Amino acid sequence: MEKISRRNFLGVTSKGAAASIVAGTFAPTASSMIGLGGVASASSKIKPFTFAVLTDAHLYDLPAHRFDGFLEDAVAQVNALKPRPDLLIYAGDVGQAGKASELEKGQKILSKLKMPMLIIPGEHDYYLDMGADWRKRFLPKSKQGVEAWSHDHNGVHIIGMNSILISDFWTGAGLSDVERMGRVEELECHKCGLWGVEAKQLEWLKKDVAKLSPDTPIITFTHSPLWDYYPRWNFQTKDSAEIRQILSGFDKVMSIHGHVHQVVYNNVGNMTSAGLMSTSWPWPYPPVELTYPHIKMNRQNPGDFKDGMGSSSVSIGGDFDGTMKYHAFSADLLPANVAAGIPI
Ligand SMILES: [Fe+2]
Ligand SMILES: [Fe+2]
Repeated sequence: MEKISRRNFLGVTSKGAAASIVAGTFAPTASSMIGLGGVASASSKIKPFTFAVLTDAHLYDLPAHRFDGFLEDAVAQVNALKPRPDLLIYAGDVGQAGKASELEKGQKILSKLKMPMLIIPGEHDYYLDMGADWRKRFLPKSKQGVEAWSHDHNGVHIIGMNSILISDFWTGAGLSDVERMGRVEELECHKCGLWGVEAKQLEWLKKDVAKLSPDTPIITFTHSPLWDYYPRWNFQTKDSAEIRQILSGFDKVMSIHGHVHQVVYNNVGNMTSAGLMSTSWPWPYPPVELTYPHIKMNRQNPGDFKDGMGSSSVSIGGDFDGTMKYHAFSADLLPANVAAGIPI
């Protein structure tokens, strides 16, 4: 297990390179913690804090593409938040087609963050080379095999998992790497099937939380939602029921996800779930009757390229009461109840 010193952790933002930011902040599990609290539990009080979230930049291998500027704007947005978030989680889809040039561009832009970053992959980062370049750039050496991680911060146990693992649909079909990526890039890839975290990460999760007391505050990060929102667009994680079962013994779990490129909220059992706006484009709402239909973005303005996008931040209170704030690029995007912050 990787040893990361407090100095390394706190010093990363001055190092400049995104690789060292990510590697340096990729604090693994409680036993190797960085002096910030050890095993999280409500009995060891939560120290209130804020973290920021960015997701779904979908950077293209094109010079000065407008999505580059959107990600830069989002980085500036979270850097300017007061108080400054303790850390930032990036929730997947840095690139569009998994190309090294796209991921490198993302790395450069994200290196301007003034807080440490943790990251999980999205399908657009992954299916050109099965995540090889993404792992090399964004994960420390000790994490090259398993993309799941956990990190304790101020009394909260934060978990990140790779939720976009798909059973092999490409070998039998004789697809090249580029063709495989091309298929997964589609919103509706009928031949790709449903994705999830799969058996290895489920085992990892069981072990990771086995040591925690039931009153431990848990926050999970996955690229896709941990509930069946709209499986046709992979707005789902195929083993989310197992994940919820593993975490069902905890008093409260907050699940935060990317991929849907929209404001969305749900609550299943002890788990609250919130989706994130992207910095690339907004997906339309799928034809699903949501339990909480009032927690949505307003209809996007097709004449405004930045409408329907932005960054997010979550403030965590001493009782593990969370508030999700959406920082839309276009201020009039959000209905008043969403703009005020959603309790999660
Ligand atoms: Fe995306
Ligand atoms: Fe995605």
